[in-house]
Amino acid sequence: MAERVKVAVFISGTGSNMAALLYASKAEGCPYEIVLVSGDNPEAPGLDLAAAEGVAVTRLAKPKPKDAGSKAEFFAALSAAARNAGAQVIALAGFMRILPASFVEEWQDRILNIHPSLLPKYKGLHTHQRALEAGDAVAGCTVHVVTPELDSGAVLGQTEVAILPGDTADTLARRVLIAEHQLYSRALADYVSRQNDPEHIYTRVAELALALPETHARDSHGSPAFRVGTEKSGKFFAHFSVKHHGSDHVGVLVKTSGMDELLDLVESQPDVYFKPAYYGASGWVGLVLNRADVDWDHVAEWLERSWRSVAPARLTKLLDAADQF
Ligand code: GRF
Repeated sequence: MAERVKVAVFISGTGSNMAALLYASKAEGCPYEIVLVSGDNPEAPGLDLAAAEGVAVTRLAKPKPKDAGSKAEFFAALSAAARNAGAQVIALAGFMRILPASFVEEWQDRILNIHPSLLPKYKGLHTHQRALEAGDAVAGCTVHVVTPELDSGAVLGQTEVAILPGDTADTLARRVLIAEHQLYSRALADYVSRQNDPEHIYTRVAELALALPETHARDSHGSPAFRVGTEKSGKFFAHFSVKHHGSDHVGVLVKTSGMDELLDLVESQPDVYFKPAYYGASGWVGLVLNRADVDWDHVAEWLERSWRSVAPARLTKLLDAADQF
């Protein structure tokens, strides 16, 4: 089986969602494993459970209320704990703090959260009470990607839960929690699997490549590739590559300055770069994209650099002018 994606879970309390993620990860074929449980409450019962199950636990002291320095230190320590545990993805599970923007940027597209409402309804707290007061017929839960704005990132999955006559916030919360436990592990498994799915990776590469001026997709030797310039006289600046010639990599090939730079990159960062068959000889390096921690801004920079190396001057000037703003 392919290596499993390493996940850190952050909690503040009971940690029943964390437990659901952990036990689901024991099933054969589950594409993720839990490598760390941490959070903002060193006494959270969920931490004891995780430790008893043999999962690494980092107990951090609560940041001092209204002390910006202590808060910054806390989040730096939390991020370091996740990095040191080798985590590639973070799952928030009843973690009751808002992550600072710098934290979210560092882990961009790699933090998921579960929220006990059908987002975009009822962001924030007291979701069950608010659903009851609004007279809703259904409540539910949502797994979403975390962005700096609270409870607003892309929705990955939702489960509806019927509201029963006589429901209180507590009785409803209990049933929603059952749905949460089912939904979260499935959504997390789908999300991390998608990161290895060539079709999904291609869609992201195409989005970035085709956002550059005067570009189009054109197959080259049976693989998708991207050109700059006119349909007639365009030049290739990126080749998409799926496990080509026995390699394990799904990636995109971009142009380096030549063999020296290529070998340097592949030697110094073998997780990020590979030397492709055939194309390597002319200085094309492969960016490994079937891994959970791809930095897509970095991919965009490489695509632009590769585009610049073959684009006609009239187009590079255009981009220079646009970059001024
Ligand atoms: C869950 O309802 C979660 O959606 C919410 O807080 C609760 C945490 O419960 N944000 P647990 O700690 O996972 O048991």
